Amino acid sequence: MSKTVLESKELCKTYIVDKFSNNVLQNVDFKLEEGEFTAIMGPSGSGKSTLLYTLSGMDKMTSGKVIFDGEDMSQMNHKQLTNLRLHKMGFVFQQMYMLKKLCIMDNIILPGYQAKTQSKNEVNERARKLMHNLGIDEIATNEICEVSGGQLQRACLCRALINSPKILFADEPTGALNSKASKEVMNELRKANQKGTTILMVTHSEKVAASSDRVVYLVDGNIKGELNLGKQKDENESASRERKLKNWLDEMGW
Ligand SMILES: Nc1ncnc2c1ncn2[C@@H]1O[C@H](COP(=O)(O)OP(=O)(O)O)[C@@H](O)[C@H]1O
Ligand SMILES: [Mg+2]
Repeated sequence: MSKTVLESKELCKTYIVDKFSNNVLQNVDFKLEEGEFTAIMGPSGSGKSTLLYTLSGMDKMTSGKVIFDGEDMSQMNHKQLTNLRLHKMGFVFQQMYMLKKLCIMDNIILPGYQAKTQSKNEVNERARKLMHNLGIDEIATNEICEVSGGQLQRACLCRALINSPKILFADEPTGALNSKASKEVMNELRKANQKGTTILMVTHSEKVAASSDRVVYLVDGNIKGELNLGKQKDENESASRERKLKNWLDEMGW
C-alpha cells in the first residue's frame, strides 16, 4: 500500500501588498504519495510557486496544515525545520540561493558536509558524478557569476540531490534549458525518483509533464483537476502520454 509523504489540508496563503490582500492559495487539499513524481501545471500567476514554497516550509502559510512524513510542519521550530530541509528535502527554486562566495563545486558539496551522513570523500564523489551526468563538470571551480543561467540551474539540481533527499521540490527545473540539457535534467530526476526520491515539480513544458506520474492543474490558487498517467515504463510511450496530456490540458483551459 502506498504511504502519504506530504499532505496539505485547507492550505491558504494570502499576500498583503499595499493594504490589498491577495488570496493566492485557497484551501488547497493535496496529497503526495511516497515515490510519486508529480507535476504542477497552470497559468502564470495561478500560485504554483507559492504552493511549492508553502508545502516545503520555505514560506509560511497563512492558515491550514502541511504534514510531512507524519509531522505537522507548522508545529516545528526553526531548528527542526532546518534539520528537515537539510536531511530530507531538496530544492530547485527559481531564486537560486547559491552562495556567491563559494565556487559551484563548493556550493554543491556544502549541504553534504553539513548533513554528515556521508564522508567528505563520498560527498565529493557524488558531486562529481552528478555534475558529470548533468553535463557541467567543466564549471566546478567557477564562480557563481561566471556561469550561464542553465548551468546554474543544473548546479542547483546537483546540490539538491547531494543528500539523496526523501522529497525534491523543483520549480521549473528545465525552464532555462535547451532540449539536450533538459533531457539530462529529466534523466537525473527520473534516476533519483527510481531510487526513492518523491518529486514535486512545477513545469510549463508538456513534454516534461508527460513523463511524470501525475499532473495537477492549478487555477487561481485552487486545484482544478488532476490527470493520472502512471509511471512511464518505456520511451515508446512518450508520444501517447503527451497526446493524452494535451487533450486533458485542453479540457482544463490551458
Ligand atoms: N512574495 C510575494 N509577495 C506578494 N505577492 C506575491 C509574492 N509571491 C507571489 N505573489 C503573488 O502571488 C500570485 C501567484 O504567484 P506565483 O505563485 O509566483 O504564481 P505562478 O508560479 O503560478 O506563476 C501572483 O499574483 C503574485 O503576484
Ligand atoms: Mg512560478
